[in-house]
Amino acid sequence: MDYGNTILFEAFEHPKLSLPNRIVMAPCTRMMAENQTISEESAAYYRRRAEGGMALIITEATTIDHDASSGHTRAPAIHGETSLAGWKHVIDEVHDAGGKIAPQLWHVGATRDPATGPNPTVPAVSPSGYLSPGIEAGVAITDSGIADVISAYAKAAADAKAIGFDSIEIHGAHGYLIDAFFWDQVNLRDDEYGGPLENRTRMAVEVVSAIREAVGEDFPIIFRHSQWKSGHYDFKVAETPEEVELWLGPLSDAGVDIFHASMRRFWLPEFEGSPLNLAGWVKKITGKPTIAVGSVGLDKDYSGQSIDAPTNDSASGKHSKSGDRYAHYSEFTDLDQLVGMMERGDFDLIAVGRASLAEPDWPNKVREGRTDEIAPYTKDVLKELY
Ligand SMILES: Cc1cc2nc3c(=O)[nH]c(=O)nc-3n(C[C@H](O)[C@H](O)[C@H](O)COP(=O)(O)O)c2cc1C
Repeated sequence: MDYGNTILFEAFEHPKLSLPNRIVMAPCTRMMAENQTISEESAAYYRRRAEGGMALIITEATTIDHDASSGHTRAPAIHGETSLAGWKHVIDEVHDAGGKIAPQLWHVGATRDPATGPNPTVPAVSPSGYLSPGIEAGVAITDSGIADVISAYAKAAADAKAIGFDSIEIHGAHGYLIDAFFWDQVNLRDDEYGGPLENRTRMAVEVVSAIREAVGEDFPIIFRHSQWKSGHYDFKVAETPEEVELWLGPLSDAGVDIFHASMRRFWLPEFEGSPLNLAGWVKKITGKPTIAVGSVGLDKDYSGQSIDAPTNDSASGKHSKSGDRYAHYSEFTDLDQLVGMMERGDFDLIAVGRASLAEPDWPNKVREGRTDEIAPYTKDVLKELY
């Protein structure tokens, strides 16, 4: 089917960010940087996605200027002359191809392995020194450490704006530093950053406020959040819509323009009694536009578990062999459901991760009804920057 006349290809109009369609490249770490500097090859790779019809590219996570922010020298940084020059080149390529681009600003928190990161003598930091429930890693961050991280986020956002990025995304998901503050099983602090959800959201609110002050009112701020944590896919920060409000309402008030709800399966309802997914609930509660994500064009989800096909007829899809943790695209029956949810107004934009790594022309091929020409996502896709 040709999706060119569906909502997927309608413009997204926001006072701070206009996009020609609703398809966003999801942030995907590639570990292809040399010495924390994004490469020429990466610039060409992002350019191909802009040429392929991605309205907005959210870059692989890029680390802010804090001595414990990075877990690997092959992940790009966004501070210092060389790394900013690398990003400037990426921006120029994407803009030249007609796309828009936002860096995902990252502090890896307790996941940092000092041995593979820059600053190998510096321990990982996290709210209370835990990587996951009961698993210690690194040290608890001090109050002055929190202040340093907040300043580093603000500096990164200001630099991103100065070199021409169209927006920034704060990585507040998947168990990394900001998300670890939300997670009550690893945030055991008894100060104003720990305890009730109102306190656990404070660090993120301070990051958003500092960024807003640094970039001004007109620059769009995207915030990515997730209920799930790496390795803890069933965890929920918010068990009810009321808790979603306690969690993300203060971030909306502090200046987030667009929320990006990281889900593994975009079609699954978040709470009983409503078809809304997390992006749907966040839009309803905050009144802000939202981005959904999760297994678009795939028949397996991010953790590699088999998933139910979102609609009935998937018999002719190209399913992966059982046991293969890498997903192949199915027959795009889920796109009809996606369009239905977007037409209902549940959420505004859809991010595509793995499918866009395999197929640079994913949006154009979907628009033109050439879905049978879309390259499948296999384990080899991650070996190169296609
Ligand atoms: C190779 C790879 C790298 C990823 N890196 C990041 C990242 O840097 N930041 C982030 O927020 N999510 C990251 N993700 C998660 C994706 O952004 C996306 O949410 C997830 O893959 C689900 O979308 P999909 O089913 O369309 O792939 C990554 C996923 C993959 C497959």
